[in-house]
Amino acid sequence: MQHSDVAAIILAAGEGVRMKSKKPKVAHEVLGKPLVRWVVDAAKAAGIGRIITVVGHGKEQVAPLVEDTTVVEQVQQRGTADAVRSCAEALAGFTGALLVLSGDCPLIEPETISALIDAQREVDAAASLLTMEPADPTGYGRIVREDSARAGVLRIVEQKDATPEEAALTECNAGFYCFDAPLLFEALGRVDANNAQGEFYLTDVVRLFVEDGRAVVAVKAQDARECSGVNSRIQLAEITAFARDRINRAHMEAGVSMMDPLTTWIGPDVRLSADVELLPEVMLFGSTSVGEGSVVGPFSRLVDTQVGCGCTIDETVAIEAQVDDGATCGPRAYLRPGAHLCKRAKAGTHVEIKKSTIGEGSKVPHLSYIGDCTMGAGVNIGAGTITCNYDGTRKSPTVIGDEVFVGSDTMLVAPVTVGDRALIGAGSCITQDVDAGALALGRARQTQIDGWADKHHQHDVAAKS
Ligand code: UD1
Ligand code: CA
Repeated sequence: MQHSDVAAIILAAGEGVRMKSKKPKVAHEVLGKPLVRWVVDAAKAAGIGRIITVVGHGKEQVAPLVEDTTVVEQVQQRGTADAVRSCAEALAGFTGALLVLSGDCPLIEPETISALIDAQREVDAAASLLTMEPADPTGYGRIVREDSARAGVLRIVEQKDATPEEAALTECNAGFYCFDAPLLFEALGRVDANNAQGEFYLTDVVRLFVEDGRAVVAVKAQDARECSGVNSRIQLAEITAFARDRINRAHMEAGVSMMDPLTTWIGPDVRLSADVELLPEVMLFGSTSVGEGSVVGPFSRLVDTQVGCGCTIDETVAIEAQVDDGATCGPRAYLRPGAHLCKRAKAGTHVEIKKSTIGEGSKVPHLSYIGDCTMGAGVNIGAGTITCNYDGTRKSPTVIGDEVFVGSDTMLVAPVTVGDRALIGAGSCITQDVDAGALALGRARQTQIDGWADKHHQHDVAAKS
């Protein structure tokens, strides 16, 4: 799709009172992605050349989410018409097709946006608008047509202003439009706030166009759920479940197995290869990708994490991590930002890794913390080993060469370097660099008092009798 000559305004300034939240509505997330971001990305996928986002309520939280668009502030939230009007300056001189998209309807598809543009262009209409027949029309604006359902659109009436007859209409305004820009701004100048909510309604321009004898065309959405708006937490959960099903189905069709699609939650930008297997209770969010033949789950959450082919990721939380081909994680591994498991490496049970490279075939199998560490290939880290990378003020690096063997329960006090093939005795506290090929021991020498325990034991038996 290529609509580089089209501009889009995304409405995202409203508070969303019914969310009962300190966070502005459009910043709430569906499958790890803020509502407004879904809409921006749909517009981008439709090839829209120019995107303007109207922010207002909670703008300091919303603006950073849409940095790649032109951000315009609507100082007072006086309604959707007022929100569009606040873009007049940013669009000065623009005479093309102008989309207006609701920032609180995340599941809109690029194809639908494209269809709206085509419908407006086909008859050079003043406006095209998307309509739908939701299962529950409560809260939506109703489409009033001339006499029959096939006749032309006359106007849109908001639920709060509707007569009982109008409220009984089932065709609703989805909140997506494509306008002729100059005609829109001219009509916006005539919109007033004489209505139940005392707001400037964008929907009023439809009536004004019809009165002027200009063409208004309606495009009916195939599935109303695609254009459902989020106005409450209940709708947020409903839309999330619908998005989950839609995304999961597409992955399964492309060759991904899911034992339990109902507990598998995948964000819209996640990439999965064929023959990936997902076990129950898995969340894959952000820019995560998983390569062919890898198994993820059960109980795993991966965010912005790249997993190669043939990996096993069991009960793992990974954030901004990289796991190369054939590597294994978990059960109960925690990979924090900058963790990189090279090919066939292992982060085992109760292992936390941060900002560290675990070299090819190296293993950290049990109960370890590895932070700010560069580890070579073929290393074995004994159970309970930790890098002491933080002295309370600064973080320091640990460097471990190839084929090093670290005995269990070792503390590596950074900054410290362990040379290739070195061996560290179990229970060591390593504070100095270890040379290649050397054995290092850093623990108290063991002493023994012969017969002491037996004597002690006899004493106890005597005392009790
Ligand atoms: C709007 C439509 C309604 C439609 C519904 C579809 C109007 C008057 N009504 O109603 O016909 O059925 O969407 O979802 O347009 N916003 C601003 N500035 C404002 C007010 C709102 O930017 O001053 C933004 C909101 O953040 C939101 C969008 O516009 O993203 C829609 O606003 P909302 O208050 O949710 O409108 P609805 O009552 O849902
Ligand atoms: Ca809404």
